[in-house]
Amino acid sequence: MAIPRLRPLLLVAVLLLRAFASLPTQAAARGGLDPSPGIADRKHGSSSRSLLQDQPEITEEMVRGYMSNFELESAIQDFGRRCANISRTYSIGKSVNGSPLWAIEISDKPGQREAEPAFKFIGNVHGDEPVGREVLMQLAYWLCDNYLKDPLAALIVENTHLHILPSMNPDGFALRRRGNANNVDLNRDFPDQFFPNNDDIKHRQPETRAIMNWIKQEHFTASASLHGGALVANYPWDGSRDTRKQYYGCPDDKTFRYMASLYSQSHYNMSLSKEFEGGITNGALWYPIYGGMQDWNYIHGGCFELTLEISDVKWPKASELLVIWKQNKMSMLNLVASLVKTGVHGRIFAADTGRPIPGSLMVKGIDSKINASGSFGDYHRILAPGQSYEVVASMEGYRPKRTRVMLGREATNLDFILDPDGAVRRTKPLRNDCGCSCNDNSNTGKPFLLREAYLWLYLLALFFLLALYLLFRRRMALRLAAHRHPPPKRPVAV
Ligand SMILES: *[C@@H]1O[C@H](CO)[C@@H](O)[C@H](O)[C@H]1NC(C)=O
Ligand SMILES: *[C@@H]1O[C@H](CO)[C@@H](O)[C@H](O)[C@H]1NC(C)=O
Ligand SMILES: *[C@@H]1O[C@H](CO)[C@@H](O)[C@H](O)[C@H]1NC(C)=O
Ligand SMILES: [Zn+2]
Repeated sequence: MAIPRLRPLLLVAVLLLRAFASLPTQAAARGGLDPSPGIADRKHGSSSRSLLQDQPEITEEMVRGYMSNFELESAIQDFGRRCANISRTYSIGKSVNGSPLWAIEISDKPGQREAEPAFKFIGNVHGDEPVGREVLMQLAYWLCDNYLKDPLAALIVENTHLHILPSMNPDGFALRRRGNANNVDLNRDFPDQFFPNNDDIKHRQPETRAIMNWIKQEHFTASASLHGGALVANYPWDGSRDTRKQYYGCPDDKTFRYMASLYSQSHYNMSLSKEFEGGITNGALWYPIYGGMQDWNYIHGGCFELTLEISDVKWPKASELLVIWKQNKMSMLNLVASLVKTGVHGRIFAADTGRPIPGSLMVKGIDSKINASGSFGDYHRILAPGQSYEVVASMEGYRPKRTRVMLGREATNLDFILDPDGAVRRTKPLRNDCGCSCNDNSNTGKPFLLREAYLWLYLLALFFLLALYLLFRRRMALRLAAHRHPPPKRPVAV
């Protein structure tokens, strides 16, 4: 009996111990604890600069074996030539010092719009965390070498558009420090949902601006940025409203836990973490940050982004890079493939024109919306599998439609055909029910009682039909719900 009462105390003790034990690691990874809730000085990186001084000096010895910015750029261009039929390379903007921010798109139809989900990987957000840029090039090479023989590689190439930005912060890398050339921490530079400090466009860093434009252009379904300094899959929210360190989940907490766990469980040993249960963590619970990239993605891009810490050591010896790639390989592939293999997918059409429309999709009980694409009206909604959801498609000028899906382990396909708002349903059916090619004139001749009787008959018949229809619908709904594993590609239009 004494044990249960002791439990809370023990828990507190363990948590405290953990908090203290994890302080140095925290400081090394996403950005470190900011003592003040105000984020004004973050802009100028004062807190991260003091953190940097705790970091070991990055020596020539450590840099050996890593690609320089020039070598990375050549590698990307070489890749584009070698894998020309499944990729294109392009720049999303320039760094402060004028380096192009090179990205690779991998797909069987690179550069073309398709009714497919898009994923992005971003590496080297922090200049002194270079593992991501190396690992991302390995991922690109692996896909190029294997898409004709490996089913997972083929699935990704054929059914998604994968965008890879190996380095978001080439200037920081060259300077061997966390911030960019203006010494701004780019993962604190995005507009924040709680604090307005970053709302001034004039002060936004070019790297941040490039990412924001990219997200608005490409319509990503999900993404991940790669960091170093810990081993954990981190998910929103980044910060909490009252700035306290606490679990602060976003509306899609369950979805994000599913995604983060998918990464962690597919990793060589991330899920064995002693510091983070299951190798995943809510951002604000680990340590709150403001102006982070992942929250902005989710809120303003409808893009489900994880922040992945893939190496306890920020700058390991280059000889360890191949091992780190192998340890992350299945996680990366499974995360991208999950956009196709799970969740609810489909297209939204207008009933009057038959054309796709860029409607939006809501899930009952989850206070967030994702948009269908403008070109194909396709939407891709990641959801934790193994439960049923009520999905609502809507579009201005149309009547929303809702339906319930039982989401199993596999993806469900669900198309919506929305009726225009103004659709008239007034007297037309009643008039047709007149049977006779009647207008008001022909009716006037009949005795009033007879007309009255007819009317009652019609109403009865209508009522009967309505009852039949409702019964039928209920049966269909039940039958749908009974499908624990709906076939992945058979469209259900509602
Ligand atoms: C790419 O090229 C290879 C070999 O030339 C060919 O077999 C393959 O079908 C091409 N892939 C695509 C997606 O076009
Ligand atoms: C994972 O494996 C690496 C060796 O590759 C080791 O350094 C690290 O401590 C391990 N982490 C966990 C959580 O087991
Ligand atoms: C969805 O589209 C609406 C209307 O164009 C826009 O205001 C909103 O920001 C979009 N939402 C997301 C998450 O992209
Ligand atoms: Zn980082």
